[in-house]
Amino acid sequence: MRISVVEGDGIGKEVIPVARKALELLRPDIEFFPVEAGYGRWQRTGTAIGDEDISALRSADFILFGAVTTPPDPDYRSVIVRIRKELDLYANIRPVKGDDVDLVIVRENTEGLYSGIETVEEDRACTLRCITRKGSERIARYASRLAASRRDLTIGHKANVLKSDVLFRDICIAEAQAAGVSCNDKYIDALALDILQHPAAYDVIVTTNIFGDILSDVASYLIGGLGLVASANIGDRYALFEPVHGSAPDIAGKNIANPIATILSAAMMFEYAFKLMDEGKLIRDAVTASMAAGIVTEDISEGQPYRTSDVGDWIADYIAKV
Ligand code: NAI
Ligand code: MG
Repeated sequence: MRISVVEGDGIGKEVIPVARKALELLRPDIEFFPVEAGYGRWQRTGTAIGDEDISALRSADFILFGAVTTPPDPDYRSVIVRIRKELDLYANIRPVKGDDVDLVIVRENTEGLYSGIETVEEDRACTLRCITRKGSERIARYASRLAASRRDLTIGHKANVLKSDVLFRDICIAEAQAAGVSCNDKYIDALALDILQHPAAYDVIVTTNIFGDILSDVASYLIGGLGLVASANIGDRYALFEPVHGSAPDIAGKNIANPIATILSAAMMFEYAFKLMDEGKLIRDAVTASMAAGIVTEDISEGQPYRTSDVGDWIADYIAKV
């Protein structure tokens, strides 16, 4: 098993080593190799990620990714958006599971408003929101298959205003029907509120790129914030696992970032990618135990907060003892 590891920027450098340790303990046979990418590298060398790095990522069995900083600089292209596109990681799976909530956001990951098709003039800047039949069918199929193994499907869209979302919604409805899945749809703004008010009403939610980006940060509120939400970016040939959060420059370098989102992303890697269900469950059990014991960082702590590395050590100890 060869896993390429992109720590990235900011807290990516703090949370990835913690998750990597858990993987190493469970499977000493994994070979890790680093790929440097992100804003830090761009500042140093003028390149955020090169073609040879994309090739290196393709050569790995799977990718473990931290987070990258994307500055609002017109000359800078987001590293993670480029990787998702080039590796065609079209399904971004974001489970949100807590006491009163158990839902999965399935975000289309390669088109929509993140098309990268943009023109910038002095007094006008335009971004093309491109929704295709092919892109919609494959994400709708993925979500419908997932919903068929769970409960039901909700389509989040803005078809009242956007013609592109009429196409998306209709394709999702057709795919859900073909899969025999119970399906309803909701405008994305109303959905963002209702998910907070009635979280139990939702199971699998499929939506377009930017709406899924926003909705997953909103939904993270239900379980304690961004420090806890993991994700898988899945394509037909490659897969990348990363926390939903970004590089969090406001807390970077302080050893206080919550590593759980990244540790749970490592669990998703075991389960989705390697089908190592026991190892995945063990990581989840360790996380649950650390939270029950109050060994958590300050973003979710109700008492004395622990540092990133302390939480990592505690979880590693738990795994090592089993
Ligand atoms: P962010 O997710 O980095 O942070 C939002 C807020 O949540 C901050 O207050 C941060 O301190 C907190 N937070 C995030 N993760 C946390 C953790 N593990 N533990 C404790 N607190 C945590 O989003 P923001 O601030 O909008 O973006 C910062 C940078 O990250 C930007 O350059 C952005 O482009 C980039 N970004 C990268 C992503 C990626 O690599 N996939 C995803 C989202 C943002
Ligand atoms: Mg986001």
